[in-house]
Amino acid sequence: MPPKKILTPLQLGPYRLRSRVFMAPLTRMRAGERNVPTEMNVEYYRQRASAGLIVTEATPVSPSGHGYVHTPGIHTEEQRDGWRPITKAVHEAGGVIFQQLFHAGRLSHPDLQPGGVLPVAPSAIRPSGVSPTYSGPKERVTPRALEAGEMAGVIDEFRRAALLSLEAGFDGVEIHSANGYLPDEFLNSGSNHRTDEWGGPVENRARFLLEITDAAIGVWGASRVGVRLSPSNIVGDIEDADRPATYSYAVRKLNERGVSYVHIVSPRVQDNEDIVTTLPLGPERFRPLLTGETRLIAAGGYQPADAEDLIQSGHADAVAFGRWFIANPDLPLRIELDAVLNRYDRSTFYGGTEKGYTDYPTLSSAKIASVSEGVCHAA
Ligand code: FNR
Repeated sequence: MPPKKILTPLQLGPYRLRSRVFMAPLTRMRAGERNVPTEMNVEYYRQRASAGLIVTEATPVSPSGHGYVHTPGIHTEEQRDGWRPITKAVHEAGGVIFQQLFHAGRLSHPDLQPGGVLPVAPSAIRPSGVSPTYSGPKERVTPRALEAGEMAGVIDEFRRAALLSLEAGFDGVEIHSANGYLPDEFLNSGSNHRTDEWGGPVENRARFLLEITDAAIGVWGASRVGVRLSPSNIVGDIEDADRPATYSYAVRKLNERGVSYVHIVSPRVQDNEDIVTTLPLGPERFRPLLTGETRLIAAGGYQPADAEDLIQSGHADAVAFGRWFIANPDLPLRIELDAVLNRYDRSTFYGGTEKGYTDYPTLSSAKIASVSEGVCHAA
């Protein structure tokens, strides 16, 4: 059998990554008081340091960026100091780790906002569904539209968070512009009805994404900044009049900046659920728009074998695994050995204890026989 390309090194900006098996950003809602990472979070990332690249869980850049309970932030010095043992542990294990910078926008809830105010968005359009709050799930509300004069302040929150990430010892940052959160709300015409320079034609709708990317580039340099996009996402009531044009524009502009990578969530998933789709908005569509050193990372619904095919075909440079990395801390080794994968437990994805977080067995710590009780399919 020829060696698997997914296990070969990849140059990503200044980093020579040991493989193309990446860990996708995964919100696990297990941070401590004041949204500071804990020792349990350190152990979780340490266990997964054999990934070619770890992208952290979505990390709010400001108090108003929070959209979930118990999520670790990157807007206070205490939070920054809480991330330091994580970056240190990953580096000591030879890993590379980027922080995903996040603002929940209208998918937040007043219960999660400082002073109980309305969450912010490009336009005052209420999304359907519920937000998890400290007193249980609550109906989402009509957000407050950001005033033009506030935009520089929000962009500055991203800049400041990028600086705190740098101080926390990360290797780079990923801008979370996927899955219906604030940058995605600006980008898509259904959630952005503005008539100022932040809305209307795609050049205006993409302005917020590009300005926060530029803010992060100002801190890190383009070769250490990636951007995540989900061109086929409908979660959070995202809709757009012309998705191919909107996302091609965004990808072209990111390519012009020479960002480290563009991370495309494939149409095989909506959020964290597998779906069947033929939407032509996967990595294949966007890879040809990237030139120079900018890489394409694909994520969403890949099994190790599909991921290998995708990389072999040149449609992606690396594949980020979400659910499989939750359940298999040693995923690269399992891919190398064609080992059976531990099945993941969806009930422990969000919140809780070590159970379903740091207690999944590795091949070296478990008898292969017990691992083989798992099956290699999505739960
Ligand atoms: C996610 N996903 C996600 N995406 C993101 O950009 N930031 C995040 O914080 C999260 N959080 C998150 C939590 C959990 C528990 C899951 C399962 C998923 C989406 C994730 O990165 C990935 O795109 C999907 O899981 C699809 O990939 P897989 O799981 O099919 O490899």
